[in-house]
Amino acid sequence: KPQLLIDTDPGVDDALAILMAHAHADIAGLSIAAGNVGLAHTVRNARTLVDLLGATIPVFGGCPSPLVRMPEEDAAFVHGTDGFGDVGFPAPVAPVADEAAALALLRLTRERPGELTLVALAPLTNLALALRLDPTLPQRVKRLVVMGGAVTGHGNTGKIPAEFNIGFDPEAAHVVFEGFPEFDLVDWEATLRHAFDDAEFDQWLAAGDKRADFFGKIFGTARAYNASHDRHGVVAADALAMAVAIDPAIVIRSERRHVAVELDGRLTRGATVVDWAGRLGRPANANVVLELDRERFAALIRGALGAA
Ligand code: BDR
Ligand code: CA
Repeated sequence: KPQLLIDTDPGVDDALAILMAHAHADIAGLSIAAGNVGLAHTVRNARTLVDLLGATIPVFGGCPSPLVRMPEEDAAFVHGTDGFGDVGFPAPVAPVADEAAALALLRLTRERPGELTLVALAPLTNLALALRLDPTLPQRVKRLVVMGGAVTGHGNTGKIPAEFNIGFDPEAAHVVFEGFPEFDLVDWEATLRHAFDDAEFDQWLAAGDKRADFFGKIFGTARAYNASHDRHGVVAADALAMAVAIDPAIVIRSERRHVAVELDGRLTRGATVVDWAGRLGRPANANVVLELDRERFAALIRGALGAA
């Protein structure tokens, strides 16, 4: 079983990804970022998930703001003001560890060198802090899988070319993309190409166990948002990245390229610049994931919902 260390800002699709991880892998810890909504919400949501799973998974609170500049908006309009569809769950009982996320990332990878796959499902603030504290971090992780970017500029933030995780904290993404010699990049455009049919997804929700009930509840606001924006089908960015983390062989098509983050730009702050034509003469850092085996992806999701 893969051993995963997950940096996340739950978040509806983060929740699905964590359910997948619990069903198909071992979770060494959840390091929590601010992003979709504020850190108090994302930490609480992570604890709610740990309660649901009845698992002992350490939750580490991370950095409450981006490294440099506060973005204009979060993603509460998709995920709900509490990040979990404003369902109103009771206060969770799972504890928060007394260790900052960045420090926990460093410690856990020191204790288990070469064993852990780092899965980044949020703005990259915690990873950037960890890397700045200890630039040898990449040598100790088995792999890094990042959900982020829009590789040909079809982003999903107010700033047109940027994707949310990168656009929320571009400086952090820059630090990570420069600091890791190699990572898998699962972008927003790949997410859109791997949507599930609504009716098919609803069948899985109906056939599943308490995890499916839970996901059906928190998914309400995101679904309504998608429908009102003429986006049909179920898209789950973090779930797609998690599939790549759990099962690397699920990737059918990918390309190795150098990817950088635009930090300035009149129109392009937070955009991921992929050197498709190889003009920069810099070694590829990213394995840009383009296509996954759809059936295997679906099976991982069904397993996560108890609808296998
Ligand atoms: C990413 O942004 C967040 O809203 C999602 O949780 C996902 O990590 C998609 O752009
Ligand atoms: Ca996320």
